[in-house]
Amino acid sequence: MAKVSSVYTCTACGAVHKKWAGQCDACGEWNTIVEEAPLSAAPGGALKGRKGRGMALTDLASTEVEPPRQGSGLAELDRVLGGGLVRASATLIGGDPGIGKSTLLLQAAASFAAQGVDVVYISGEEATAQIRLRAARLGLEDAPVRLAAETDLRAILTTLDETRPALAIVDSIQTMWLDTVESAPGSVSQVRAAAHELVSFAKRRGVAVMLVGHVTKEGQIAGPRVVEHMVDTVVYFEGERGHQFRILRSVKNRFGPAGEIGVFEMTGAGLAEVPNPSALFLGERDAPAPGSVVFAGLEGTRPVLVEIQALVAPSPLSQPRRAVIGWDGGRLSMILAVLEARVGISFQGLDVYLNVAGGLRISEPAADLAVAAALLSAREDAPIPPHSVLFGELSLSGALRPVAQAENRLKEARKLGFTSAIVAAGCKTGDGAGLALQEMPDLARFVGEVFGAA
Ligand code: TYD
Ligand code: MG
Repeated sequence: MAKVSSVYTCTACGAVHKKWAGQCDACGEWNTIVEEAPLSAAPGGALKGRKGRGMALTDLASTEVEPPRQGSGLAELDRVLGGGLVRASATLIGGDPGIGKSTLLLQAAASFAAQGVDVVYISGEEATAQIRLRAARLGLEDAPVRLAAETDLRAILTTLDETRPALAIVDSIQTMWLDTVESAPGSVSQVRAAAHELVSFAKRRGVAVMLVGHVTKEGQIAGPRVVEHMVDTVVYFEGERGHQFRILRSVKNRFGPAGEIGVFEMTGAGLAEVPNPSALFLGERDAPAPGSVVFAGLEGTRPVLVEIQALVAPSPLSQPRRAVIGWDGGRLSMILAVLEARVGISFQGLDVYLNVAGGLRISEPAADLAVAAALLSAREDAPIPPHSVLFGELSLSGALRPVAQAENRLKEARKLGFTSAIVAAGCKTGDGAGLALQEMPDLARFVGEVFGAA
């Protein structure tokens, strides 16, 4: 019997394995590996016998101009896209189901249309009646956006080819299917093939394409990561379920800086832009209390102030709890270890909870000092000086390292009414933006000056 060997693909990252395993060794996710039909074209040997056509090679030096950008009219979206949408580009918008991707894209579609952009919105998830209801709820029913509910990619491509809009929105890539691929919609091969077709259509016909990708937790459906490498721009729409804030974050952008964020608030009438996120994140702030510290952070090019809260309590457990929201758990352990080894302050026998207020996720090491300060303040039950912000990176030796864009961080703090700052020594603070500065070379000095000899 001829044996058709299957391949095993990880639905989270797209890695191909020879055999099934419980955990993908490429991305570390559990239960994401599924069996798929092998690819039809045999790799290697496929080029035998036929000669390809010759290509024209060109020089690197050229008079190519920056691609023109089309603004959406939504400043927060444009910022994340690097100044607006680029013609013939493909953008992937990933996010958890229910986070608001369809809402954002419907609003973006209407807003682009209001700028005179010809927009087609194709949904594979909702009927046109449902989309119209949503539009009515958002007050967008009169926007000149053309709609279709379809999942057959052949029909979609033919229609787009005939209508040639400037922007095509496809919601979502997991619902699209191609009749030439044998597996079910949502499988890694379907999602990849569908994305490939749409991206090459975008390049060929000069149409901007925006694809929605659900971040999935179940094994059978491929996640957006399997198409990240095919598109020009990857943005994720994030937020904590209990919070109304939504953050749009670019993780890859061929036409602009990555790491930019746009901030929105989910309201009863759709997503509202938040032009000043610091005020919003600090607006949630309680009265200054032990364990609460304001970190002057940077998201992309944008300074953002956030409150970092810590709670330290005696633990009944032999292995005390370390719970973190909005910050890396490994980095918390590192800071606790540095506090113990370099300053002699131990958290043994104590539960430690750390939370970044407002549902923001911070990945900057510049927050180390603020986290350490929150932990110490909670443990000593002593508030840190009011109206002050903190930043600085902590090294394993206990030294504090300077961080980038100190002056911008201080300016933002000044704008929001802060009067002093405690920062790592050596930061380029300029004129300090009028704040009273305390520069700390290391953690021991910080503990001595802020909490008295601990
Ligand atoms: P949706 O855009 O459908 O999410 P996704 O496409 O990412 O799956 O958003 C769904 C949620 O947003 C839903 O729980 C209701 C909420 N929502 C509002 O709070 N206000 C609104 O105006 C709209 C349209 C949705
Ligand atoms: Mg949706």
